[in-house]
Amino acid sequence: MLSFFTVVSLLALSSKAAALPLRRSLNERQDASTKFVVAHHIVGNTFPYTLQDWTNDMNLASASGLDGFALNVGPDDFQTTQTVNAFQAAEALGSNFKLFFSLDMSVLPCATPDDAAALRARVLNFTSSPAYLQRTPGKAFVSTFAGESCTFGQTDVPTGWRTQFTQSPDLQGKIEFVPSFFIDPATFSTFTEVMDGSFNFNSGWPIQVTTDFANGISTDLTGSPPDGANALNQFIGANATDIQQIQDLAALSVNGVAPTYMAAVAPWFFTHFSPQSFNKNFIFLADQHLYARRWETLIAERDQVDLVEVVTWNDYGESHYIGPIEGALPAGSEAWVDGFPHQAFLDLTKVYAESFKSGNAPVIAQDELIVYSRPHPANVQTSDPVGPPTNFQVTQDAIWAIVMATAPGSVTLSTTSSDAQTFDVQAGITKLSIPIAPGGTLNAELTRNGASVVTLANPGSNFTFNGAPELFNYNILVTSAIASS
Ligand SMILES: *[C@@H]1O[C@H](CO)[C@@H](O)[C@H](O)[C@H]1NC(C)=O
Ligand SMILES: *[C@@H]1O[C@H](CO)[C@@H](O)[C@H](O)[C@H]1NC(C)=O
Ligand SMILES: *[C@@H]1O[C@H](CO)[C@@H](O)[C@H](O)[C@H]1NC(C)=O
Repeated sequence: MLSFFTVVSLLALSSKAAALPLRRSLNERQDASTKFVVAHHIVGNTFPYTLQDWTNDMNLASASGLDGFALNVGPDDFQTTQTVNAFQAAEALGSNFKLFFSLDMSVLPCATPDDAAALRARVLNFTSSPAYLQRTPGKAFVSTFAGESCTFGQTDVPTGWRTQFTQSPDLQGKIEFVPSFFIDPATFSTFTEVMDGSFNFNSGWPIQVTTDFANGISTDLTGSPPDGANALNQFIGANATDIQQIQDLAALSVNGVAPTYMAAVAPWFFTHFSPQSFNKNFIFLADQHLYARRWETLIAERDQVDLVEVVTWNDYGESHYIGPIEGALPAGSEAWVDGFPHQAFLDLTKVYAESFKSGNAPVIAQDELIVYSRPHPANVQTSDPVGPPTNFQVTQDAIWAIVMATAPGSVTLSTTSSDAQTFDVQAGITKLSIPIAPGGTLNAELTRNGASVVTLANPGSNFTFNGAPELFNYNILVTSAIASS
C-alpha cells in the first residue's frame, strides 16, 4: 500500500538539471550577481504594524535568504502609511534589503486617467529611496498583481498602460515594469513599451490540476498503487508555464535583450471564505513537496529566471505565508491560520535562495528535519456551513518531510507507534512521506552511525490528525527540529 509514496533525492534532480535543454535564443541575461529572491508582502495585512514589526520582518527575511519584499498595495490610506514605515525601516537597516511595489490592480481603481495619475504619484513618491529596488540604475522595479483589464479610460488595455503609465512623461524611462497580467502569453506581443518583463504569479502551483483534470488521468485519487495520486506527480513544480512565458516574452525583446522573467514559488494554498465574506473556497494542489520541488526546478533553470518571488510572506487568507503569523489577519482566516505556523520553511528558503543566486548546489550547514501535514482527512464530513473547498479531492492524507542533512544518515518517520518507516538519506535535501490517518501525530528522527542526531517528536504535543473536525481546514502545520549539538 505504501509504494506510491516517493523518495526523491536532490541527486536525481541535478542530473535532470544537466539535461535541461538550452532554450535561450536571445542574449544572456544579466549575470548571477544580479539575481534576486523576494517575497510578496501583503501590506493590507499590516494595519497594526509598528516600525519595529517591519524591521523584524526584514531581518528575518534577510536571514532567510531573501533580498527584498514586493509590497502588495491596495487603496486603503493605512497602506500608504505602512508603505512609509516599510521604507523607513529598510533605509534604517542600511542593508541591501530592497522594496518595490506590487500594485494590486484587483482592488486599485484603473478606469480613468486620474486613476493612473494617482498610481504614478504613489510609485514616484518612493522610487528615490535608497531602499527601492533598481536592477538597472535609474529604473525602479514595479510589478503588479493583475491589471490585465485596466484601460485608464483609453481604447484598450495596452494603450491604457502605455500612455497613462509606462510612457507617461513623468514615468517614461524611469521604471522597469514587470506586471503579473493574467493573460494568454501569446498576447504579450501587444504590450510593447508596457511590459519590460512578466511576473508569472500562478507558476507557483499546478493550477490546472482540478478534480476533473485529476480524474481524467487517474482512476483512484486516494492513491492506491499503481495508479493513484502519483499520476499527478509530473505536475508538481513543473516548468511548463515558465517556458511558455519566456518564449512569448521574446516578442518584447529590445535590441536583442530578453525581457525580465520573474517566477513564483509557493508553499501551499487553501482559502475558505464564505459567500458572505470574500466568497473564495478552494485549494491548489501543493502535495508531494511542492515548495521544495518548485525551488529545484527554478534552480535548474536559473539561467532563464531573473527573479524569484516567494508567494507569499504573509497572505494568511490563502495559506501561502512563510513568515510569522502576525499583523491583522483577514477576518475569518484565523480559523485556519492560528496554530498553523509555516515559519519552519524559512531555513529551507534560505538554502534554496542561496543556491538559486549562486548556481552552487544547496549548502546544508546544519542537520534539520521539516515535517508538515494537513490536520484532517481530505474526504472528512463536517457541519462547516462553508462546505469543503473546491478540488479537495486531489490532496492526499500524508505527512511530508524534508530532510536537510550535512552527511548521510537514516530517517525514520512515524505517525503512530506501529507505522514507522526508515529511509536512507544522502547529504543534501531529501523528500520523504508516509500516510497519516485519524489519531496520527508527527514524528521524525535522523540518526547517523547509530546515534540520534535530530528528533522531532509531535512538536507542541498539539497536533493530532483529526477524524472528526468541526470545520474544514486544508492548511498545514509546519514543524521543524534542528540538531541540538
Ligand atoms: C508620499 O509620502 C509621504 C511621506 O513621505 C506620505 O505622507 C504621503 O501620504 C505619500 N503620498 C502618496 C501618494 O503615496
Ligand atoms: C522543463 O521542462 C522540460 C520540458 O517539459 C523538461 O524536459 C525539463 O526536464 C524541465 N526542467 C526542469 C528543471 O524541470
Ligand atoms: C502547536 O505547536 C507548534 C509548535 O510548537 C506551535 O507553533 C503552534 O502554535 C501550536 N498550535 C497550537 C494550536 O497551539
